[in-house]
Amino acid sequence: MSVGIDDISFYSSGMYLPLTSLAAHNGENPDKYRIGLGQDRMSVPAQDEDIVTLAANAAHPLITEANRDQISTVLFATESGIDQSKAAGVYVHRLLKLGSNCRVVELKQACYSATAALQLACGMVARKPNDQVLVIASDIARYGLGTPGEATQGCGAVACIIKRDPRLLDVHPESGCYSEDVMDFWRPNYMDTALVDGKYSTMIYLKALRQSWKNYREDGGLAFDQFARFCYHLPFTKMAEKAHRKLAVTNGVSMPEELLERQIGAGLLYSRQIGNSYSAALYIGIASLLEHDGEDLSGQHIGLFSYGSGCVGEFFSGTVRPGYREYSRREDHLAMLEARQELDYQAYTTHFGRSCPQDGGTHDFAEEAAGRYRLAGVHDHKRVYTEVGE
Ligand code: HMG
Repeated sequence: MSVGIDDISFYSSGMYLPLTSLAAHNGENPDKYRIGLGQDRMSVPAQDEDIVTLAANAAHPLITEANRDQISTVLFATESGIDQSKAAGVYVHRLLKLGSNCRVVELKQACYSATAALQLACGMVARKPNDQVLVIASDIARYGLGTPGEATQGCGAVACIIKRDPRLLDVHPESGCYSEDVMDFWRPNYMDTALVDGKYSTMIYLKALRQSWKNYREDGGLAFDQFARFCYHLPFTKMAEKAHRKLAVTNGVSMPEELLERQIGAGLLYSRQIGNSYSAALYIGIASLLEHDGEDLSGQHIGLFSYGSGCVGEFFSGTVRPGYREYSRREDHLAMLEARQELDYQAYTTHFGRSCPQDGGTHDFAEEAAGRYRLAGVHDHKRVYTEVGE
């Protein structure tokens, strides 16, 4: 029995800042961001958007009358948690009107946690083949104004249905992991921006890749030359180029520009427009690959590397299912990105400076979110979510 990704959908906020505007304000050459980091825009959330609304907007298209009651579990991966106790997925479970006999839990390990969720989901489906698991990853990446990480901010959510005989990607059982207690990137509970040792984090990312790959091969995984394409965790798209070159060298393979573009290029397109979406980034990359690669990838093997600072890395793989193109959500994804409103630098800082009220009063937020779901306000420390038209 094969188990894997049956459907995939992502969502990002309705506003973005062009990185040319950020470069102009920061006195940087725009090519540093465009070429040096490989980023064009970053998504900026409104005050009435958070990981719950991003997630519900991402997952909504995947839920049908047919599968609503077959979803036995919601696994919600995030490092932008809104509550120390209640799982963000419980709000999403209500907004999506999922059945009450469903388990819901939140997972955390920086950007890696969505892959832990995917592996848990595959195990659950292998045990109960009629079940479907909804895996959601949703994050808002914030480093702070004027910091080196600022140009790599962004936000987004991705949702995947994991089931047997999936329509998009069979996920292979072989995988390789690497964990090490390091301080490359972290966010203490009392901060709303991340702390990061930027250059060190890129080195640790590459170390985790090498070690995860070694462990993947020891676990019986495929050889480098058996893969048609690769997707990597995308803090910024240039990181995937560095990673792919590193993996090629590790395997004694030369990587001319044209081969690099063919093997990873299509997977980078959405992230260039969104920025880092932490736990969602690898999976938005997979959607980008399946929706933009010019070749029919049916039956081809894809190598996947997930990385979460702190750190945990995992190299795993999958095989694209024949006919996967029929189930593409490309037009909806492109239309969503196209409809975003451009911000100037001043408007971006205004949005960035807003925080969630903490005084227990009644606070209603202006209607700025573009999607179906919004955070209408916070009343008596309780977050109030609504659906447009409710
Ligand atoms: P920086 O120090 O401002 O940038 O920060 P830089 O000076 O290193 O320049 C960046 C690149 O632009 C360099 O290329 C420059 O040469 C190039 P490289 O040497 O790296 O190949 N450059 C230019 N290229 C063309 N034309 C120009 C030009 N000028 C310069 N005119 C840094 C960069 C990534 C450190 C910073 O953005 C940062 O701290 N980002 C946040 C941390 C991060 O993203 N780390 C990635 C690995 S860790 C990870 O992926 C986990 C994470 O997602 C979190 C999680 O797990 O939860 C972050």
